[in-house]
Parts: sequence; C-alpha cells; structure tokens
Amino acid sequence: MENRKRCFKIIFFCILVAATLLFIYLNRDWDSMSRETEVQWEDPGPYHVAYPRNYKFIMDDTPTCKSTTPFLVLMVPVAPHNVKARDIIRKTWGSEKLVLGKLVETVFVLGLPGGAHADQQQLKLQVENLEYHDMIQANFQDSYRNLTIKTMMMVEWLAANCGKASYVIKIDSDVFLHVQNLVKLLLNPTTPKQNYMTGLVWWHSPVLRNPFDKFYMPRDVIAESEYPPYPLGFAYVMSLDLPAKILTVSPQIKPIFIEDAYLSMCLKRLSISPTDPPEKTMFLVIPTHPLSSCSLSKVIASTTTSIQLMTSYWQRSSEPGAKC
Ligand SMILES: *[C@@H]1O[C@H](CO)[C@@H](O)[C@H](O)[C@H]1NC(C)=O
Repeated sequence: MENRKRCFKIIFFCILVAATLLFIYLNRDWDSMSRETEVQWEDPGPYHVAYPRNYKFIMDDTPTCKSTTPFLVLMVPVAPHNVKARDIIRKTWGSEKLVLGKLVETVFVLGLPGGAHADQQQLKLQVENLEYHDMIQANFQDSYRNLTIKTMMMVEWLAANCGKASYVIKIDSDVFLHVQNLVKLLLNPTTPKQNYMTGLVWWHSPVLRNPFDKFYMPRDVIAESEYPPYPLGFAYVMSLDLPAKILTVSPQIKPIFIEDAYLSMCLKRLSISPTDPPEKTMFLVIPTHPLSSCSLSKVIASTTTSIQLMTSYWQRSSEPGAKC
C-alpha cells in the first residue's frame, strides 16, 4: 500500500516536471536570445510575415494605369507556375476590356518562383509577359505563407500607379468574375466613390486559438477574440483612394500571414468599415455547383472547382434569358 502511494507520488512529480519544462519551452523567448548577435534579417516568426517594405518590382512593364486610366482594375494574385490559370482568365473574363462603356484591365501579381527549376521558370515568365504585358512581379518568395506580402505589394503598386483609376477588385485565379455585374454595381449612384470596400463581408471572424488550426493565432500576437470585419480574400473590391491610405497606416501594424484579416486591421486603424454588397448572392464562396442561370445572372464573383467550370460560367453569363 505504502509502496503504491510512493509510486503515485513519483509519477505525479514526473508529470509536474514535464509540464513545467513544456511550459518553459512554449514560452521561450528566442528574440532576447538572439538579440546579442544583432541580426540583419529578422525572422518574422510563424505568425507574421517579413514585409520590410523594400521589396522591388522586377517585372513591371504593363501599360495598365501608366498609359491608360481604367475604370476598373482586376488584380489577380497567381502562383508563378500557374500559367494555366492565367491563360484561361485571359480567354474568359480577363478578355473583357470595354464593359458598359468602361475600360477594364487585368493585371497578374506574382512573386519569385521557388524550387529546383526557379531560373527556368523565371525565363518562362519573362517570355509570357513579353507576349501579354499583363504581369507584375516583385522580388519576394511566392508562397502561400507569403500571401500578405503579395497583397501589400499589390497595394503598393496600386497606390503608385492607379490613383486616377476608380476601382479595383482583387480576385483569386480560381474565381469566376461576372465583369458586367461588377461594373453595374460600381456605376450605381449609391455606390461610394471613396473609402469603399465590399465583398463577402465576415463581420465577426473569430481569432482561432486551436494550435492545430491552419489559421491559428496565439493571444500574444492578437489579443482580441475577433478580427475587425473584412471581405473574404477570394474577391474584394476597393475604391482606388484606399491603397495609398492603407500604406499610411500599415507601418504601424505588424503584418500577420492572413492577408484579408491584415487588411481589416489596417482599415480599422483608418476607421473605415467594409460595406455589404446590395445582394448577398453577389459573392459566393462555396456555392453548390453548377450555379443556376438565375444565380449566375446575379453573381459578381464565385469560386470554381475547375477550369472547365470557370469557362462554362463565363460562356453562360453572356447568354440572355436568365430564369428567376
Ligand atoms: C517569404 O519571402 C521572403 C522574402 O523573399 C523569404 O525570405 C521567406 O522565406 C518567404 N517565406 C515563405 C514561407 O515562403
């Protein structure tokens, strides 16, 4: 009996020691450990991204906004290798240049290709751009975890070049865009011309505290339990006064890797709130496919699951006679 008690005591003690060690390990402060060695390159850690604000555009010869003044710019972040997505967009909604009498132009946003064939990849991109002049590329590593850098480079580019244009939509490369419905919304007299951001607005997006979640964010990075409201990243619209405004506050807000949530933090600092679109059915993030001709007649942006689906939506969207 006495033996068993002692055994329990030892086990309890071991667990206590293990828990203490784990606690110390999880709360380790690498920052102060490396401070003595005065590092040039600051590791952003797992939840932030390295956006030192001095990345440069190494491909930037598109005439868009420089020798043209579009009403609407379509900005499409795309992985360097994803030439298929770029080509299908060029053939479908990206080919619509004059919509309801308004100039619309498409620009693809890229970072640097990675991996073993990066140099070869880069040459291919240059050849592709020589043909279309619709790509801009900045010198950061293109990766999923670096999407906030990509978004901020896009914001920098828009602020530097597109101040005279009216609106921009940032749209993912797997999304169907109904350009005419979007232009119609933007031409509506009730649509604000400034401080305007819309899309599928998530008004109460929780900060996820489960370490196994893809979008996990510890309390010491973000203390609030919710992000400020923001339109989901697959498709959001901004008036083109916003990029320059965002850049005035972004240096005060350390970038997190969740790009749309990061923009929401910048907007909040500017005291600007996103706006719901007039109809909930305009932005569809995970709809049931295929969309009916009725929903297709109302949609502005919808995610798709294949190139075929995107193509068929685009073809169907120009056919008359939607039944609702
Ligand atoms: C993000 O880009 C920076 C700059 O190119 C690079 O140092 C870093 O490794 C990239 N991070 C990821 C996760 O790809």
